[in-house]
Amino acid sequence: MRIGVLTGGGDCPGLNAVIRAIVRKGTFHYEDEFVGFVEGWRGLLENKTMELGLTAVGGILPRGGTILRTSRTNPAKHDNGLKHCAENLLKHGCEALIAIGGDDTLSVAQRLCAIDVKVVGVPKTIDNDLSGTDFTFGFDTAVNIATEAIDRVHTTAEAHNRVIVVEVMGRDSGWIATYSGIAGGADIILIPEVPFDIEQVAELIRQRHARGRYFSIVVAAEGAKFADGIEKHGGVSALGAGKDEFGHLRLGGIGSTLASEIEKRTGFESRSVVLGHIQRGGTPSAFDRVLATRYGLGAIDMVHRGEFGHMAALRGNKIISVPLAEAVSSNRKVDKEILDAAIGILDKLDYKVSKAS
Ligand code: F6P
Repeated sequence: MRIGVLTGGGDCPGLNAVIRAIVRKGTFHYEDEFVGFVEGWRGLLENKTMELGLTAVGGILPRGGTILRTSRTNPAKHDNGLKHCAENLLKHGCEALIAIGGDDTLSVAQRLCAIDVKVVGVPKTIDNDLSGTDFTFGFDTAVNIATEAIDRVHTTAEAHNRVIVVEVMGRDSGWIATYSGIAGGADIILIPEVPFDIEQVAELIRQRHARGRYFSIVVAAEGAKFADGIEKHGGVSALGAGKDEFGHLRLGGIGSTLASEIEKRTGFESRSVVLGHIQRGGTPSAFDRVLATRYGLGAIDMVHRGEFGHMAALRGNKIISVPLAEAVSSNRKVDKEILDAAIGILDKLDYKVSKAS
């Protein structure tokens, strides 16, 4: 069978491992041939391809990024975009398409299925906020990078008696902030799911310092929300006014607003660091390489079982197939169990100073 492959949306460590697994199993087990559509949906829309065989995937397992490159192009925003995609697939003799991406990419995949294009999806995002699957690949790597950064700012914060705010990715969900905050021993974790009162944050830090601690580490997801709006505190909710083709604003900057508010309210010297794209770049963790490989193998098997309109998903330790509709239905928020773990381990407001920790 001839199969098209593309990677869409923000890149993510492990994309190359998925591509490699698809090509290797497809070639060795099913005698498939592949066409790589480059730069996400733009490649399919504008008919831009690259050769995708065993040679192309040689040595890419540990490499970050994606050999197919990526973009946030949305064919539905272009004149007859979805139709052009379907035509270009046929032009290359492709009977099926494997689309590797997050909710935006997979929502396009779902729309193509509705016009009889045979698409299988693979879930990707460092944010881990895709429904229908327990974990997306790339998340583990991002958490490891964020945790190492938190460990590093700990020592400098301690040396200078400072509060340091670490801003991590997470537009709609606080998975990276919560996991890295727990793993890195943060004192406060702020996530989009739970809008925060800045005065309570300041009070927590004051109480912690009153107990004899000289420094504090705050981890904030980029999408975390001031209960009364960031603008009221001199910040902005998005960098620049533009939106991408899927309607997303560019977030960033909550860390510096938080740091200046904390310094103003507590008198403790504060700094902020933004991890940004460092979390998305570089080599995938061993966990992500294995997960991404299993997703790739799952996707090629699904193509041959004819499970179109579905996505490979992880449930427990099994790779299963779920409808794309389930994956794109809603943004997956941090599980209650993980939130409880964070609440259980974090500093608590009004802890009696006399009990001193
Ligand atoms: O892919 C998701 C994500 O990493 C978000 O957490 C973040 O807001 C966004 O991508 C950044 O996108 P870009 O690379 O386009 O700046």
